[in-house]
Amino acid sequence: MSKTPHDSSTHASSTHGHAASTATAKASGTFRLGDDLTVIRLGFGTMRLTGKGIWGEPRDHDEAIQVLRRAVELGITFIDTADSYGPEVSERLIAEALHPYPADLVIATKGGFERPGPDQWVTNGRPEYLRAACEGSLRRLRLDRIDLYQLHRIDTAVPAADQIGTLKALQDEGKIRHIGLSEVTAAQIEQAQTIVPIVSVQNRYSLTDREHNSVLDYCERENIAFIPWYPLAAGALSEPGGPIERVARRLHITTSQLALAWLLQRSPVMLPIPGTSRVAHLEENVAAASVVLDDQTIQELESAVASARRAGSR
Ligand SMILES: NC(=O)c1ccc[n+]([C@@H]2O[C@H](COP(=O)([O-])OP(=O)(O)OC[C@H]3O[C@@H](n4cnc5c(N)ncnc54)[C@H](OP(=O)(O)O)[C@@H]3O)[C@@H](O)[C@H]2O)c1
Repeated sequence: MSKTPHDSSTHASSTHGHAASTATAKASGTFRLGDDLTVIRLGFGTMRLTGKGIWGEPRDHDEAIQVLRRAVELGITFIDTADSYGPEVSERLIAEALHPYPADLVIATKGGFERPGPDQWVTNGRPEYLRAACEGSLRRLRLDRIDLYQLHRIDTAVPAADQIGTLKALQDEGKIRHIGLSEVTAAQIEQAQTIVPIVSVQNRYSLTDREHNSVLDYCERENIAFIPWYPLAAGALSEPGGPIERVARRLHITTSQLALAWLLQRSPVMLPIPGTSRVAHLEENVAAASVVLDDQTIQELESAVASARRAGSR
């Protein structure tokens, strides 16, 4: 970790003005994955580049390619994907848009889900399936080695040690550089670490969804990257007139920027990967890297989230 948002000299503070549209992801600082791969903390998730139901080709192919290229232009060096997005579509789009890849670009992909149809996800952690999935990702991404390969889910029908062991074998063969997990508990990470080093964990997390706080704490202690998926799911809070919108308006930023700035400030191991199929939304989200929230704003947000929760439970 080289920098927290507070170190940035280019930021627009929450008390003074807008998140500049020329801002780049670099203002979010860096994180070192597995001690040898440095990434800019604000990354990009590519699941939403595919068709409806995370199935098939994009709504607008040219814009999907443009989004990926613009992400790199805006300083993003960490791109998340999976063989199951499309399936295969997201990985192919990444290669089409960005290969040959910039030297500092880290592509993180995942395996462990079969896709029988739109919105259908079936876990498959059998060793032969995971091996074939990894080989397919290598081919589609046109890589000799995948920098970060994440087990999309631990399949409860297969011993966890067999699944992690398969990824370790692929690492030993030079096909994977680092290994990550997704939707896991601290105990599952600990268990996996008895087999192989785990450098990242991808769990659902946002301003309004903190179920995995204890996993985040564990990642901080172990210096494991915590990659929150669904980072913009502010739910009712982001609806017009909601409390988050009021805070965002006061700061002259959007609710998405506020939700992302909060995540970046929540922990130095946080690597948000907001996803979008639109260049305009990408630019808006990247500008969140320059937003610094002061203590009073953080308190205001906490009260807003708490009161929305109380209202929701009535
Ligand atoms: N490990 C896992 O199990 C798992 C599960 C889900 C996702 N993921 C990863 O996490 C990434 C992010 O998660 P996610 O895509 O589910 O959720 P998200 O990033 O919170 O939300 C994406 C949605 O928000 C919209 N959006 C993005 N920026 C916006 C903006 N500035 N203003 C208004 N709307 C905006 C997008 O629509 P538009 O396209 O219209 O902008 C899209 O529908 C995915 O791309 C994927 O890489 C991982």
